[in-house]
Amino acid sequence: MAIPKQKFTLPFFTLLLVNLWSNQMVIMAMESIPIGVVLDLNSTVGEMAESCMSMAVSDFYALNVDFKTRLALFTRDSSSDVVAATSSVLDLMKNDQVHAIIGPQKSSQAKFVIELGGKAEVPIVSFSATSPTLSATQSKYFVRTAQDDSSQVKAISSIVQAYGWREIVPIYEDTEYGNGLVPFLLDAFQEIDTRVPYGSRIPLYFNDTQIMSELHKLKEMKKSIFLVHMSASLGSRLFLLAKDAGMMSEGYAWLVTAGLSALLDPLGSEVMDSMQGVLGIKPHIPSSKKLESFKSRWRKKFTISKPQSKINELNLFGLWAYDTVWAIAMAVEKAGIVHSRYVKPNTSESTVDIAALGKSETGPRLLSSILSTRFQGLGGDFHLAGGERVPSAFEILNLIGKAERVIGYWTPERGLSRNLYTNGKIAYSTSKNKLKEPIWPGDTTQQPKRLRIGVPLKTGFNEFIKVEWNPEDDKPIVSGFTRDVFVSVVEALPFPLPYEFIPFVNKNKQSAGTYNDLLEQIKLKNFDAAVGDITIIANRSTYVDFTLPFSESGITMVVLTKRDERENMWIFLKPLSLELWLTTGIAFILTGLVVWVLEHRENKVFRGKPAQQLGTTLWFSFSTLFFAHSNFSFDLITLIFPFLDFLTTASKFMLL
Ligand SMILES: *[C@@H]1O[C@H](CO)[C@@H](O)[C@H](O)[C@H]1NC(C)=O
Ligand SMILES: *[C@@H]1O[C@H](CO)[C@@H](O)[C@H](O)[C@H]1NC(C)=O
Ligand SMILES: *[C@@H]1O[C@H](CO)[C@@H](O)[C@H](O)[C@H]1NC(C)=O
Ligand SMILES: *[C@@H]1O[C@H](CO)[C@@H](O)[C@H](O)[C@H]1NC(C)=O
Repeated sequence: MAIPKQKFTLPFFTLLLVNLWSNQMVIMAMESIPIGVVLDLNSTVGEMAESCMSMAVSDFYALNVDFKTRLALFTRDSSSDVVAATSSVLDLMKNDQVHAIIGPQKSSQAKFVIELGGKAEVPIVSFSATSPTLSATQSKYFVRTAQDDSSQVKAISSIVQAYGWREIVPIYEDTEYGNGLVPFLLDAFQEIDTRVPYGSRIPLYFNDTQIMSELHKLKEMKKSIFLVHMSASLGSRLFLLAKDAGMMSEGYAWLVTAGLSALLDPLGSEVMDSMQGVLGIKPHIPSSKKLESFKSRWRKKFTISKPQSKINELNLFGLWAYDTVWAIAMAVEKAGIVHSRYVKPNTSESTVDIAALGKSETGPRLLSSILSTRFQGLGGDFHLAGGERVPSAFEILNLIGKAERVIGYWTPERGLSRNLYTNGKIAYSTSKNKLKEPIWPGDTTQQPKRLRIGVPLKTGFNEFIKVEWNPEDDKPIVSGFTRDVFVSVVEALPFPLPYEFIPFVNKNKQSAGTYNDLLEQIKLKNFDAAVGDITIIANRSTYVDFTLPFSESGITMVVLTKRDERENMWIFLKPLSLELWLTTGIAFILTGLVVWVLEHRENKVFRGKPAQQLGTTLWFSFSTLFFAHSNFSFDLITLIFPFLDFLTTASKFMLL
């Protein structure tokens, strides 16, 4: 049987004098419970958590003097290294025989450590590894006293929905923490029909040149709505570069996830300056007297102990670390843990450290005790479900100046709301009217990302679409039937769809090209859509989508005739041209003349005085309109008659 190697003799028994004011001497035996802490002490979260945890221990036992157990924190600095974190954990388990481990800080470090915890049956309690890829379902001994990142996804998608963004580009760090959230985001965006055409993954080793070229790529792709999910160190670099790239200006919108918005304070004024107009969300911490008094005590203590630190404000992770210590301290007492150690396996076959770790005797008991702990902590109601902190409400922030302004809240039941505490039942809402108006990048209240709708400028048929310029502010005014159809459709949509009409004109406000050129701009992504009397043609359909036609094809004009023309008595002359009337008249006379030439020697009717002869001749021509001339047998005449008949019938018809 292998004898356990121990550096420290456990347990420590401590004698303590308490209750001095009642002049009573109470002698108590107290069990010191070793708890491992693995942090990156060079990071904001680590630095803050360490200070909060040591205060948590002293605060807790100042209130609970009669407890039989005392936590003893053994802190190891793991930097941000996965191997260092693992070896710190091993060291704590092996040499300090810790009962539980708080940490490790990063999701990537936690990935392997929770496997170790499961093997050694030591609860791994993390207040900062928020990646949803880590979960209690993978390892029973993993307890997360922080909110899972995926709990904020619905809040983010509600904001996206509220502002009617149809497209968003996530920019995230290429780590366990960054990648873990992406599938959840994609699902949530799909649910609200928002496209994610591209995801920008930024590895931690990227230098500024590389990040800049990624930003330029996004700019060239004409993307304007971004969701940033990264840790503070990378995030602060990104925003400084985005500002240099001109992407923190009007027309852009930036959203940041809780990981970044919880750590805004230590980023420094230069970074905050570059982040003006950014929207962020972070878990809501209900204010309480306890919290206020802790804040001021912490500030006093922290500024004395770490004068060079960049941290001025207590942040979320500090509070979660504080509550974690309290929860473990309560759980240890409740589980009634007395001195215990790790049961070593027979190590005859295995000499590798990890395999020879053994199992903590108290692990299972401590775990169930931690999971059932519930109390009012500094960060609100401390309550675990499924091994994780139950998500609370989220605050929606807008960064203006050096401050973060809360513009609203999001809760799972009510969606977006302006006030967190309202009485009565309120329906789930994703309306932007529930939020205060944010200031967007570029110091504007104009909401970015409106659909750019191209409108043709043309002469004629202005009933369909008409572009004018407002003489006061030189802004285009679009009117017409197709515009009205478009506006009505947008208003009938179940979600808001901001848009602006942009006339397709050159600098001189003249049409910048044909309808084909206009549609080409949609292909080039200069416009998102076009509205106008655009004909649906097969070759156009290859690069744009058309709506169903809503007007008949072809053009019909309904025109009022002018009044004076209607009253003119000569209107019956109008249908035939002057030339035709003349031809008809000449043919009339010619017919008479021909008949006269042929007839006047033989036919008595055609003789007499010249006036009589002229009258007879004209009468004859005229009579052809009404009588059949069956006794004429001349070929010439039979040829002429059908022509005359046509003309006279035509003119009769017109007279009607
Ligand atoms: C701590 O961080 C600073 C600056 O971020 C760096 O220069 C230093 O090397 C870090 N120290 C350790 C031990 O990682
Ligand atoms: C950044 O990295 C790229 C590729 O590794 C390299 O070519 C470039 O010189 C680096 N830029 C700086 C400023 O270090
Ligand atoms: C270890 O081995 C010894 C003898 O080889 C055996 O008696 C004992 O039960 C084993 N212990 C465990 C925990 O397997
Ligand atoms: C479509 O057809 C028109 C007329 O035939 C032509 O001018 C235009 O270039 C064509 N467009 C494409 C994209 O082929």
